[in-house]
Amino acid sequence: MLAVFTFAMAGQEPGILTPPAPPQPRIHGARMYGVRPGHPFLYRIPATGTRPITFSAKGLPKGLKLDKRSGIIGGTSPARGEYKVKLRARNSAGRTERAFTIVAGDKLALTPPMGWSTWYMAHTDISDAMVRRQAEAMVTSRLADHGYAYVNIDDGWNIKPGSDDAALGGSARDAEGNLLSNKNFPDMRALTDYIHSRGLKAGVYIGPGPLTCARFEGSYQHEEQDARRFAEWGFDFLKYDLCSYGRLMKDQNDAAELRKPYQLMGSILGMLNRDFVFNLCEYGRGKVWEWGRAVGGNFWRTTGDVGGGRNADLWTNMERYGFGEAGLEKWAGPGGWNDPDNVLIGQILWRGKLVPTPLTHNEQYTWVTLWSLLDAPLVFGGDMTRLDDFTLSLLTNDEVIEVNQDPLGRQATPVYKSGKVEVWAKGMEDGSKAVGLFNRGEDEREVVARWSDLGITGPQIVRDLWRQKDVGRADGEFRANLGRHGAALFRLRPE
Ligand code: GLA
Repeated sequence: MLAVFTFAMAGQEPGILTPPAPPQPRIHGARMYGVRPGHPFLYRIPATGTRPITFSAKGLPKGLKLDKRSGIIGGTSPARGEYKVKLRARNSAGRTERAFTIVAGDKLALTPPMGWSTWYMAHTDISDAMVRRQAEAMVTSRLADHGYAYVNIDDGWNIKPGSDDAALGGSARDAEGNLLSNKNFPDMRALTDYIHSRGLKAGVYIGPGPLTCARFEGSYQHEEQDARRFAEWGFDFLKYDLCSYGRLMKDQNDAAELRKPYQLMGSILGMLNRDFVFNLCEYGRGKVWEWGRAVGGNFWRTTGDVGGGRNADLWTNMERYGFGEAGLEKWAGPGGWNDPDNVLIGQILWRGKLVPTPLTHNEQYTWVTLWSLLDAPLVFGGDMTRLDDFTLSLLTNDEVIEVNQDPLGRQATPVYKSGKVEVWAKGMEDGSKAVGLFNRGEDEREVVARWSDLGITGPQIVRDLWRQKDVGRADGEFRANLGRHGAALFRLRPE
């Protein structure tokens, strides 16, 4: 039997496909959550449905406490082991329950981290007030209800040696060598307290060289002192950006030389009394995917900057970096992920101005579909205080996010390619397959997903994940019509 699904009418943009969240409570986000024993624990249960919602949990290990109104779990992570918890939520419209496993051990980021970063909406024009507004918006926009949690401060928060800008210049360290924030960030501890009070996580940025990419103070020869400072300040995440360290290297692409500063910082972070998700940023040099996990990395950029390059074309960058992940799948999995960079939709800084992303709807569907299939960290790069309904619909489709957060952590691979048409697939924990259909070409195309390419047999129920609806039954193959640069995402379950 043959089934053909039309994803969008010829020449038309698909518009919003994600159905609105129902009034009944639904719990979303990761099903497996890795922590280190004895460290501070913080998790905000992502849930949709009419508020107020009352939360409860069964099987929560000792030392953890759930605030039943906010759904925030705090306390101290339990002793090594796996804890099977049942998270529950109820409101005036109904109730729900979801299995959630806390794994206390060595591994963090058992599923790809989800969050936001300052970089692509503001570059170094950032401040405490701005980060607070964004953190607040992560909650009020409801992104946090779908699993977004990391609020990451990128380059520009500390002192810029030699700068004549009164807010940024001055001495980068105190008399004891402790790293200082700049005047736009008067109190880092108060800032992370604020982020944590919302149940969210706080991320910070620095590099192993004398200076960061935007020429702010780096950690060179202060690595341990800086890491301890970040822990005292209450951070949960560190992005470590190579940049000026390159000047200290003989060969820019030598894996052993590249690995050294990451190994050092990775081992320091592992000794701290807080969980730090460690984000390696060295643009994919020296095949970082081969050693990123071994040095303690939880994700590693496999590419240059997706929003970078003079006269860059965003579609071209995204396409090159995203589809370019083919072949790297064997290095991704729970605890360590390939990172083709942030998701640049919504309002982003583009050619110096905060403007709507230059991408078409189809191109944006391609972006989020591909990143979900790739198990890429979902780090939103746009302004969370100015989310339009379309952007929000792309970021908050729970069935699409589920593909990204599947506990197996199996990065999708291309199973079919012909000219500008591709089919990618990923095995899911429940035995189903997530299948992405892509049209990278300039004209509308029919894309065929064949069972022989997918390695399955027999009749399947085909579910359109963007529309969150079963669209039919198919045997042998199914087809979808896709517009220019368009994508569709399905899940196949044996009938
Ligand atoms: C590099 C990184 C970016 C960003 C900037 C900050 O270009 O790749 O992600 O962190 O530095 O200066």
